[in-house]
Amino acid sequence: MDVKHYYNPNGQEILDEGIFGGSPTGFVDFNRSKYKWDSNIYDLMNANTWFPSEVNTSTEKRNFEKLSDNEQAIYKLTFAQLSFNDSAQEEYLCDFRRLANNRLVKSVLSLQIMQEVNHSKSYSVLLDACGNSEEVFNLYKHDDALNRKNQQISEQFARHIEGGSVDKMLLSAMASVNLEGIYFLLGFSYIYLLGDKVPGARDMIKFIARDELNTHLPLFSNIFKTIRKENKILTSTIDSAYSMIEDAVKIELEYGNYLLKQYPIMGVTPQLMERTVHNYANDRLKKIGLDPIFKTTDTTYLQKLVTKHLNMNEVKSNFFESNVSNYAKSSIDLDDF
Ligand SMILES: [Fe+2]
Ligand SMILES: [Fe+2]
Repeated sequence: MDVKHYYNPNGQEILDEGIFGGSPTGFVDFNRSKYKWDSNIYDLMNANTWFPSEVNTSTEKRNFEKLSDNEQAIYKLTFAQLSFNDSAQEEYLCDFRRLANNRLVKSVLSLQIMQEVNHSKSYSVLLDACGNSEEVFNLYKHDDALNRKNQQISEQFARHIEGGSVDKMLLSAMASVNLEGIYFLLGFSYIYLLGDKVPGARDMIKFIARDELNTHLPLFSNIFKTIRKENKILTSTIDSAYSMIEDAVKIELEYGNYLLKQYPIMGVTPQLMERTVHNYANDRLKKIGLDPIFKTTDTTYLQKLVTKHLNMNEVKSNFFESNVSNYAKSSIDLDDF
């Protein structure tokens, strides 16, 4: 790689750096942002900084042992899958970051990478407290459905990550919209359904969900929309983006239905899961400037559970540092469009 990659005095003006293509001078200047959303999302990510040690996991083992066999299986298979999502996302982001040109957007991706590592660390802390870390991290060896979901997510990540064209970069960003906006969601709601029975897991998931849904999803929605706005994108590429979210819905429902069939959870039906995932997918399509293509229904109970836990004020203040509790999402504009 030549020296210009690091410093190019003849490179683009900072305010001209697009997301795809170009040659940046090499400075990261938070005072001159081509987009408003990038520095706003960076600030929000920082304001939301948390550490796994802030969650009280001291009673997790005792609480886990009181769960029914079905609930224990759901707990383990949910964390086995969610922990894979974060491990994969960290690696994917390092690769995706290489495709990006705008240095400030790259800086926000760097912070996101750190947060995904923090999520991986939090699963290890939680499962260590629960006493089943190795068992859960090894479940992919014994569970075909889990292995299949992980495999399908990896394939979606890998398909366009080599870049080389703006269309490929756009579809790579779509893989991340799916990860942040679809593949976590049933898992989050399962842990919220267990709720007060496992407060350590619930509170850890609250923090992770806030990162994914309040900052990572807006980051990739903005990246997707900006790439489209700045470049001419083939119609067939947009068709592929729709196919990718259709695949994501299938992948999420396939694992959800498998879990439900093996380990029924009170009140959850295949129809409820389908309505939930379809509503989420429509919302994600709207967020990236595309049209909803799934049947829309009223907000489901599972969606309401996830939304309820995004409200920081509900977190018991003695568990968390005040900087986290004071986190004020509504005051920051995350979308320039
Ligand atoms: Fe994450
Ligand atoms: Fe994320």
